[in-house]
Amino acid sequence: MDLPFAESFKIKMVETIKKSTREERELWLKEAKYNLFNLKSEQVFIDLLTDSGTGAMSDKQWSEMMLGDESYAGASSYFKMKNAITEILGFPYFLPTHQGRAAENVLFSALVKEGDVVPGNSHFDTTKGHIEFRKATAIDCTIDEAFDTQVQHPFKGNVDLNKLETVLKKYPREHIPMIIVTVTCNSSGGQPVSMKNLKEVYDLAKTYGIRVVFDSARFAENAYFIKMREPGYADKTVKEIVKEMFTYSDAMTMSSKKDAIVNMGGFIGFREEELWKKSQTFNIMFEGYITYGGMSGRDMNALAQGLDEGTEFDYLDTRIKQVAYLGQKLKEYGVPVQEPFGGHAIFVDAKRFLPNFPKEHFAAQTLAVEAYLEGGVRGVEIGAILADRDPITRENRYPDLELLRLAIPRRVYTNLHIDYVAATLANVYERRNSIISGVRIIKEAPIMRHFTVELERVEAEVI
Ligand code: F0G
Repeated sequence: MDLPFAESFKIKMVETIKKSTREERELWLKEAKYNLFNLKSEQVFIDLLTDSGTGAMSDKQWSEMMLGDESYAGASSYFKMKNAITEILGFPYFLPTHQGRAAENVLFSALVKEGDVVPGNSHFDTTKGHIEFRKATAIDCTIDEAFDTQVQHPFKGNVDLNKLETVLKKYPREHIPMIIVTVTCNSSGGQPVSMKNLKEVYDLAKTYGIRVVFDSARFAENAYFIKMREPGYADKTVKEIVKEMFTYSDAMTMSSKKDAIVNMGGFIGFREEELWKKSQTFNIMFEGYITYGGMSGRDMNALAQGLDEGTEFDYLDTRIKQVAYLGQKLKEYGVPVQEPFGGHAIFVDAKRFLPNFPKEHFAAQTLAVEAYLEGGVRGVEIGAILADRDPITRENRYPDLELLRLAIPRRVYTNLHIDYVAATLANVYERRNSIISGVRIIKEAPIMRHFTVELERVEAEVI
């Protein structure tokens, strides 16, 4: 018999998690104003809210924590991080920041001004938030295939070159401070960008004299998909692919809480010395001195080690196969999910799950609520609540996709946990026709509302 696949790690430390009753969850959710961010973590059995900062560090990462150098300036930990970034990603200059959005804040402070446009592939919400906060506009140039969950395409994160060129032609160069390519593209379902597309975007950008920045939170997962799906890359190592990917960028922002497998941390990688120097001032103002930028020395050590582990094939194969395991189970139960399966999460298609739901009742958020009530599983809405209001018209923006994201933390849950999650969603799916009332917003913040929004259940039947 062929030997089955098995995880490339064993477990040295465990953390207890507890189940609850449906009655308890009903009460907790009401108290949380139907916003799952407001739940206490002990009220959740399986937490798939995010794969960000929720991974399990390895024994080697924990060892590195003990070797952290907490000197204010010039710590050895800074140099460990610098070496890892130069060796693995190929950037000669970098600035540490406390997380990804901090990297965006620092870099965009140096680059983005009022009236600018920043084209990209479905910018992540903090990225878009930092652009709009500066009274600039993010323009989505993702390929159309990304917006149909049933279309099969190996690289649904790709940038549509025609859409991009239209933007590059329409606006003067001095109003396009950069193009942002998100690898993998979280908002379009954890979908990868092909090497061919990265190169084409870069070449096009250069003909217009424009900088390319990678939003790199899940760059290693992107490299894994290139190895598995793109002709010519099967025999290359993930590290070789990563190196090549970044040759098609001028700078990068990184949320290290994802593919560097740390609980907190980020950085900016630069090729231009001048931009690095300009950004230093903002780093000092917002984050900390340029050799720690909001990170402890021990965390920089763990990050350096994490970058190395996170770009190893066996680790990525284990991780991405677990995500696909959930996707496959859900598919078998008939639950509509985005295909191909993403790198860090399975995205349930709420419009197909609840086809007659009016958009004002937030189908994806309703599904998030139902999955929690059913089994204590916490996912997150990637739909109209996250999409926020248009900054100018203040109208709700209803994106093409209404998704419930089930993000899998790295090296945390076993496949029995995944079975439990799939069964939870299957039960909700079984009773989908009885889900006749959604949620309505009662309070919201002016920007990035989904973290703090307060909701109530709509009493009237909607179908
Ligand atoms: N870019 C992408 C593609 C992200 O997914 C995130 C965070 C960020 C930037 C910001 O990084 O959280 O370290 O400040 N994504 C998390 C998520 C929050 O759940 O997908 P951060």
